[in-house]
Amino acid sequence: MHYPSFIHLKEVGPRDGLQNESIFIDTDDKVKWIDMLSDSGVGEIEYSSFVHPKWIPALKDAQEVGKKIKRNPNVRYSALVPNLKGLERALEAGIDGASVFMSVSETHNRKNINKSVDETYPILREVISEAKSVDKFVTGYVSTVFDCPYEGRINPEQVIRVCDELFAVGVDFISLGDTIGSAVPSQVEALLEPVLIRYDSDKIIMHFHDTRGMAIANILTSLNYGITRFDSAVGGLGGCPYAKGAAGNVATNDVLYLLHGLGIKTGVQEDKMQQAALCIQDKLGKQLPSKALAYHYKKTV
Ligand code: HMG
Ligand code: MG
Repeated sequence: MHYPSFIHLKEVGPRDGLQNESIFIDTDDKVKWIDMLSDSGVGEIEYSSFVHPKWIPALKDAQEVGKKIKRNPNVRYSALVPNLKGLERALEAGIDGASVFMSVSETHNRKNINKSVDETYPILREVISEAKSVDKFVTGYVSTVFDCPYEGRINPEQVIRVCDELFAVGVDFISLGDTIGSAVPSQVEALLEPVLIRYDSDKIIMHFHDTRGMAIANILTSLNYGITRFDSAVGGLGGCPYAKGAAGNVATNDVLYLLHGLGIKTGVQEDKMQQAALCIQDKLGKQLPSKALAYHYKKTV
């Protein structure tokens, strides 16, 4: 099998990971933890979310976090931004990139951002154009690309329609989200076939949640299609509070074990990611789902 030689990982633990936690991690602890991630060799960190703090209380300190973290010049710092108000706050706190987001399915989009799919496009268009005008890169998250928790199976054509709209208004990358972690490899193939006929593989990021333990199999399938960008969260933190039952993102630690074992470079030091996972596991006071982390932990205690 011919795999890509280098994979770009975006660490989404501080955003997708913490947004789902009911306990509030103290800002200074978050900052120390993000600084550990910055030192791991990972190329991008989504450090927080500038959504309405009432919707995601765990990340209500996004601005303070953005101002306090130590910026490593080798890391690109991005944050989730739903609208112009969010972008304004994010620019003030400091970002290299803005991550906008919407869902393919009408019901999840409404539950997540209180708008229909059609109402969302003009909002994102404004954010993207404003972010590009100040030289920020923009990632467009497209959620529920395989299944919606409310509407069921999603057709790849529906996904392509949303991707076309977002690329047309200037996003640099699209991150395809298995929001509820339901996909199996044949669904990944059925989506990537038409997607990669239309867009360059370097523009596509895969974002797998690991609800049913399929994420690693889905990453392997994506690698076979030449995908070189993935989102993951340290320890397997994560989930979407507006998609019931969705578990954490695929664990960065497990992805590193897979990729490095396959001889694929990532630039990330596995031991530093283990330390970062243990740090946040300790702060949350619960065991995180990563298998590679559990194995490392057993060996070291
Ligand atoms: P809304 O209530 O419809 O907002 O919420 P609005 O535009 O009507 O404004 C209402 C009030 O909120 C106004 O204040 C605004 O100024 C304020 P007022 O005039 O009443 O005093 N407001 C804000 N304040 C701070 N920051 C802002 C902001 N925007 C408006 N950015 C909104 C709409 C989008 C804001 C809300 O629905 C929201 O915050 N939703 C976020 C939900 C969320 O974070 N979900 C999880 C992330 S998505 C995800 O996890 C999926 C992903 O990982 C990929 C995958 O897995 O598939 C990305
Ligand atoms: Mg997600």
